[in-house]
Amino acid sequence: YVIGIDLGTSSVKALLMNQKGVVCSEVSRSYPLIHEKSGYSEQDPGEWVDKTVAALKELTEQFDGSAEDIQGISFSGQMHGLVLLDEENKVLRNAILWNDTRTTEQCKQIYDMAGEKRLLEITKNPAMEGFTLPKLLWVKQYEPEVFEKAAVFMLPKDYLRFKLTGRIHSEYSDAAGTLLLNACRKMWSEEICGLTGIDVNICPPLVESHECVGTLKPEISEKTGLSPLTKVFAGGADNACGAIGSGILSEGKTLCSIGTSGVVLSYEEQNDKDFQGKVHYFNHGEENAYYTMGVTLAAGHSLSWFKDAFAEMESFDSLLAGMSEVPIGSNGLLFTPYLAGERTPYADSQIRGSFIGMDSSHNRNDFVRSVIEGITFSLNESIEIFRESGKLVDTIISIGGGAKSEAWLQIQADIFNCTIVKLSSEQGPAVGAAMLAAYGCKWYESLEACAENFITYEKTYTPIPENVKKYQELFQLYKEVYAQTKKLNE
Ligand code: XUL
Repeated sequence: YVIGIDLGTSSVKALLMNQKGVVCSEVSRSYPLIHEKSGYSEQDPGEWVDKTVAALKELTEQFDGSAEDIQGISFSGQMHGLVLLDEENKVLRNAILWNDTRTTEQCKQIYDMAGEKRLLEITKNPAMEGFTLPKLLWVKQYEPEVFEKAAVFMLPKDYLRFKLTGRIHSEYSDAAGTLLLNACRKMWSEEICGLTGIDVNICPPLVESHECVGTLKPEISEKTGLSPLTKVFAGGADNACGAIGSGILSEGKTLCSIGTSGVVLSYEEQNDKDFQGKVHYFNHGEENAYYTMGVTLAAGHSLSWFKDAFAEMESFDSLLAGMSEVPIGSNGLLFTPYLAGERTPYADSQIRGSFIGMDSSHNRNDFVRSVIEGITFSLNESIEIFRESGKLVDTIISIGGGAKSEAWLQIQADIFNCTIVKLSSEQGPAVGAAMLAAYGCKWYESLEACAENFITYEKTYTPIPENVKKYQELFQLYKEVYAQTKKLNE
């Protein structure tokens, strides 16, 4: 058996999987977000550890085998969050999370200090509020007394793993989201550190995602009921693990994951493309591989906002049921999902959403369909960038909330103009983490061989040519809305 842990933004989930890739049990524990001021989003790293230990204890209590049967454990984690430790490895302040937007000023400073072109060349990514380097600079500027004491910085799941093993590491897929990694040379960039005034010695040592970094500390073994011999593998960023857990492990494989935010992600064998920072370009959890990724910040969030504002008592299922009665294009209603700004391709935290083309004949179903279409158009802008780079996107694995509705899956096929495949069972990034442990334990000779056992596909949706044509025309209009509404928010 292996355990995959996903340290998410609202909860931690632990999955126990056997050698055939069957999920034997699943437990989770939630923890709060701390929003001290508007735009701030923090968490107490101690909560991650306590809740994970409690979840592991429950998992072992449900398990009938002996503790030694659980051979490995690995992690997936929310990306970009900053945890600062002092010389004694004590946490110096709350973690600043990926969805914290206080660092717009620091992003500008990064461009002034390092230059946008050089930053893109080395890290493959532009300066964005969510990433780790702007957070480090914010602490340096506004909490210098804290920053002075910082001996090492860590990413969320790396901190959790440190508390379970006593060993400090990071790995490439999460390091890629810091803006401090030389993505191609796979080492911390002394140049970016130097230009932005960060001591490269506060960066933790780097390993591969499937590497064994130690075993559990005796006190953790005691508290959880796991064997102290359980091997601990480094793990990966949640998006990398989501990709591994959906079989995005070779060129031509693409994923669409719609949760609160929406992600489209495509495997890259090489690291030599230039997307000019319009989409993210990160190191994968598979050795020497990469992926490109587009993010819509308010994907599922747009739908839950709509439900809360206009149909609070209803379930998502009944809300979405009415959508099929509405024709393509929502009877002339067009929605842009920029409720919280937009990540890719615009990197614009100020832009806000819109409904355009309202008519007194429109009813709630028209609005619901236009929200769904707008979210999908937004993700299609990133897919268009993948295709412009020469990438063939002819099949997309769809997971998350967006894969729960047949109608939405067909809309994805028609807007993305490709075959959409649904997985038969979905457990998210924790499966990718469990696969890293399974591969690390040498159960399989590659992650791909592991995927053949761990992942099964259920159903495909093919694009309908007539619908594709209509959506292509509407998509041209959709793309004009950003430029035309930008001034409203300046
Ligand atoms: C990716 C990102 C989010 C977090 C959420 O760039 O910010 O997907 O990883 O956990």
